[in-house]
Amino acid sequence: MKKKIIVANWKLNGNIQTISNFLEYVKLKISLYLKCNTVVIAPSTIYLERVYRDIKDINIFLGAQNVDVNKQGAFTGETSILMLKDIGVKYVIVGHSERRYFHGENNKLITQKFGLIKELNLIPILCIGESETEKKQNKTKEILRNQLNMILEKFGEKAFENTIIAYEPIWAIGTGVSADPIYVQLIHKFIKDYINECNIKNQQNIIIQYGGSVNSKNAKSFLEQPDIDGLLVGSASLIYEEFFNILEIANNISLK
Ligand code: 13P
Repeated sequence: MKKKIIVANWKLNGNIQTISNFLEYVKLKISLYLKCNTVVIAPSTIYLERVYRDIKDINIFLGAQNVDVNKQGAFTGETSILMLKDIGVKYVIVGHSERRYFHGENNKLITQKFGLIKELNLIPILCIGESETEKKQNKTKEILRNQLNMILEKFGEKAFENTIIAYEPIWAIGTGVSADPIYVQLIHKFIKDYINECNIKNQQNIIIQYGGSVNSKNAKSFLEQPDIDGLLVGSASLIYEEFFNILEIANNISLK
């Protein structure tokens, strides 16, 4: 049995009340789903501790949506990897297209952040993916190679040890139009083969999630694919019934 990893990326959503409601439900139900799944919740930074309080004893892991490239010092408004680790974060999302697009993060900065996360023995969830225009121009593979290259060059053989890659085609994020599962399977296989070509050992251990308009209706079709190892779920993860339906689907598939 290979566990599926399901990550809830809450983005800039939620408040104390909605998070408390969600966590009440989680505490009641989660034990049914953890044998076959790894579950991570990534709330916005200000609620990390609140979420951790309720999940630390039930084997759900805490994820951060971002981290600064500096460990400490005069960097107003930022959050350090040391602080994230200090309060119990285990996974850190890095390179999300919303950060690339709205906050101007490029591959160089993302590689630095990726290195910092690994240095502190936390697990990066590295998001990669092409835009709609790039897909139309048949540039998907080129874009993905570019997004991976700097990391491969800098960290070599160990680059993707204890790391998660999230393939998130930008055109599928928040649009309600998810990618075709067969297409995603081909892309995931391409990513694994590419990393393998670069002489990376243990490529069978590379974990690649899919993200982009995942919900309980389409989760099964993704998770059934051999190279889709998990899901990075945005808006559907805010609704607890929906999120638990996805966990149940993942559970059933892992058990097969
Ligand atoms: P949606 O599931 O809302 O499309 O968001 C996907 C995503 O960006 C997860 O990181």
